[in-house]
Formats: sequence, structure tokens, C-alpha cells
Amino acid sequence: MTTPLPSPGAPVGIFDSGVGGLSVLRHIQAQLPHEHLLYFADSGFAPYGDKPEDVVVERVLSLASYLSTHGVKALVVACNTATVAAVRELRERYPSMPIVGVEPGLKPAAAATRNGKVGVLATERTLAGAKFLALRDQIHEATGADFLLQPCVGLADQIEFGELDSDATAAMLARFLQPLLDQGADTLVLGCTHYPLVRASIERVLEKAGKADVTLIDTGDAVARQLARLLDAGSLLRHQGPPPASLTGFTSASAAALKAAFASLLGVDPPVHEVAIPVPPSWQNGTRN
Ligand code: DGL
Repeated sequence: MTTPLPSPGAPVGIFDSGVGGLSVLRHIQAQLPHEHLLYFADSGFAPYGDKPEDVVVERVLSLASYLSTHGVKALVVACNTATVAAVRELRERYPSMPIVGVEPGLKPAAAATRNGKVGVLATERTLAGAKFLALRDQIHEATGADFLLQPCVGLADQIEFGELDSDATAAMLARFLQPLLDQGADTLVLGCTHYPLVRASIERVLEKAGKADVTLIDTGDAVARQLARLLDAGSLLRHQGPPPASLTGFTSASAAALKAAFASLLGVDPPVHEVAIPVPPSWQNGTRN
């Protein structure tokens, strides 16, 4: 059996453990307004950040397999945790498909810092991943920048619950940011795609701490540029033409919750479908088998 060649008219599949990937999707929509986009929010299995690596790998392969049933021409792993854990396996499984991952922006942070001290906010899983640690060592060696790692346990959950500017979220952020500020970080990497969604709250906490001049690094824009480059290189860019570009949402939790997130975060109202993805065999009853 031969696999049909992907065509420029096919959709791009984008996924995250939940709504965090919408912080990447907005850049893709802005830069590639003619692309049909499918967004999968795996909110029913979130968070990924506190799960074992092999469980995240299995889950990511299941989501990619689901999206491939919709004939996607490219995949965007709009999740740092999933990228660090599973992008290698994804590329092995889909060797001819353009796949763009998201990794904490250590390189732009090293270029932006004035004192060589960079705080990295991310999930526990991302910060423990071999791929991330190799990147940290490489950029440290090349630039001399020191990276102060801060796992933000529970922050992605707060954002999934829609608590973008509640007092509880501000208190949580202050708890994570203060040790980094105390150590002199003048640049902070938003190393989880959920975190740009609370950028305004982070800025308020920094202002309160008298550190409004701290630089925040978000890689959503760079990810969209990389997607454009790969589509172009594969002659897969869709140019303007009927039908107009579409956006469709899929979620492993409630369609109403994802619709609400689309509306409040992006001001759009796409169709959203609930999809049951079987829980990885290595993760049953909320724990590893
Ligand atoms: N949005 C995901 C990331 O970029 C993580 C959230 C989670 O823990 O599921 O890492």
C-alpha cells in the first residue's frame, strides 16, 4: 500500500496537553493565515509535566496517530514537555512529515541577558529531560550564561482551570519567581506553552518586586516561523484560495471548556469535537502500571 503524498491543501495538526498550545496557535494563525489548522487539546490527560517520560511518549504517539487520520501534512508539538520527551520518537514514526517542536528558548535568552543569569520556568518533566539538559549544557558552554531551573508544579493546572489572573495564580507565580529574582535573574524563559497565557500576571508580579525590567522569552513566534520554513521547503505551503482557511478543535475533555478557551484567549469560535483517546497502557488508574 502506498501512502498518498501530502498536499498543500491538507491541514496542519497542532497539539498540547491542553490549552497552552493556543499561545503557539495564535502565532501560526498570524503568520500562516491561509493554512487549515486542527488543534488537539489533551486536557483530559493533562498535565503532562508530572507524568513519567514513557507515559508522555505513548500519549504523544496516540495523539499524532489520531491527527494523522485527518490527513495532516505537518505536526506542531505545541508543548515543551511533549517535545522534550517524544519528538525523537515522533520523527522516527513519521520520517517524511515536517514536525516542529517547542523547546525552552535558552538561546534567545542567552542573547538577551545582560548579566548572564537566566531563569527557566517549565514543568518538572521538561527540566528533567535529557534533551533539555543537553541543550542547557550546550548553550552554557557556548555563551557562559547560567540557567536557574524552576519547576512550576501546578501552574499549568491553574491555567487549564482558566485562572489567568486570580490572586491564587499571582501568589503561585510570586513563589516561583522570587527565588530566581533573588539569584539575580534578569531574563526569564517561559518554557511551557501555558505560561505566555499568564504573561500579564507575571509582569504584575515582576513590577511588584521592583523588577519590571526583566526580559521574558516566549518562542511561539519562532515556532510559527520554523513551520513556515519547513512547509515552504516541502512545497506544502497553502496559498490563498477557496475554501477560506479553517480551524477545528479536538479535545479529550469537554468541548465547552475548549470553546470557552478559544473564545477568551483568541476571540474565535471554531467547531470543537470531543475525542476519546485510550489511556496509555503504562498509565492506568492515575498511576504507572
Ligand atoms: N504546555 C505544556 C508545556 O509546554 C505543559 C503543561 C503540562 O504539564 O501538561 O510544557
